[in-house]
Amino acid sequence: MKIINVVGARPNFMKISPIIRAIDSHNNRIQSSIRKNNSILESKLVHTGQHYDYKMSRVFFEELKIPKPDIHLGVGPGSHAEQTGNVMIEFEKILSKEKPDLVVVVGDVNSTFSCAIAAAKLHISVAHVEAGLRSFDRLMPEEINRVLTDAISDYLFTPSSDADENLLNEGITEDKIFRVGDVMVDSLLFNLERAKGSTILKDLGLENGSVTNYSLLTMHRPSNVDDRESLSKIVEALKEISKAIPIIFPIHPRTRKQIKHFGFRKHFTNISRNNSKITSTKHGLYCIEPLGYLDFLKLMSRAKFILTDSGGIQEETTVIGQPCLTLRDTTERPITLTQGTNVLVHNDTQRIIDEASLIMNGKRTNPKCPDLWDGKTAERIIRIVSNCKDYD
Ligand code: UD1
Repeated sequence: MKIINVVGARPNFMKISPIIRAIDSHNNRIQSSIRKNNSILESKLVHTGQHYDYKMSRVFFEELKIPKPDIHLGVGPGSHAEQTGNVMIEFEKILSKEKPDLVVVVGDVNSTFSCAIAAAKLHISVAHVEAGLRSFDRLMPEEINRVLTDAISDYLFTPSSDADENLLNEGITEDKIFRVGDVMVDSLLFNLERAKGSTILKDLGLENGSVTNYSLLTMHRPSNVDDRESLSKIVEALKEISKAIPIIFPIHPRTRKQIKHFGFRKHFTNISRNNSKITSTKHGLYCIEPLGYLDFLKLMSRAKFILTDSGGIQEETTVIGQPCLTLRDTTERPITLTQGTNVLVHNDTQRIIDEASLIMNGKRTNPKCPDLWDGKTAERIIRIVSNCKDYD
């Protein structure tokens, strides 16, 4: 069986890494088995090039030990239609040449949908990892990618029961839906120990004795950063919170451009890793370049709380039990609200400040780790696609 795994943008890399590892261990298992009744899985990795900066892409290959892509489509930036169309055109050529039996796509970025549709039209099976998530907000480009990718996929690998229900409600038949857990958690659990070796806290001066009193921010959603009013309301809250606690902000290229464009740069202090020491009393809003996976895990696991509009971080904070305030009014991951630490605060200035104050004054939740978020999701996926009966 020949599989093509696809990655394109930053949140894809930590999802594909455990899948590649599971394919390798499947092959090792088959090779050492006396009953060689299952075939070896041949796999290739395609990078679309949606994200291309070292800090948005290559650093993750190095840290997560993902093999160098076999094929790089080099697509780069563009409008939604340009990016989606260019990936489709380039990926179709690869499919025609490689003739895989299965294409594995992960998450909800433009590359996910583009590659799924190119494969489906050539009658190649598609497996969608992280299927069934819905924010029910069609203003999010990712929501459109999710709905369309799920509609044309053959294997829908879901992280939670709400995702199963969403798919059934859209008329997808039960035989295509496989609840396997959350593949992002595989990466998280696999790397938490390694992340302890990161020197990021020390480098930023945040580890003076026992002081780790800071908050961590990520923000890049178009609805937050491409809209002046929305961004302004969030910045107002951040300014207020940062009077009480330093906020560390690894900044996405889109957000950096928009902050400059809207004239908010004066509220942020640029820092770089080895020459900016922050002490617990030096409050402010500190921008640093996007971080690698291990540095980010370390910062996330030691922060007082996390402010974010990312999807994956809502899940990661639930698993590690760190308080998370999500700068959105919807989430496609409702289980992080009901079982995890997540609270939706949208761009509501006062609500953001109030929830942050509650946490700073000691509010804690006792999260429950959702079922099957156990680090074995990729193994379940490979067991299903290989139809292998030899697993324990
Ligand atoms: C994409 C995903 C989003 C994901 C995010 C994580 C879609 C629709 N959105 O959004 O779901 O959460 O990635 O990062 O697929 N840029 C760089 N360097 C890079 C990559 C991008 O400078 O390496 C710039 C681009 O030129 C563009 C902007 O950042 O101006 C946005 O990049 P793009 O990939 O279009 O979308 P993201 O906002 O990153």
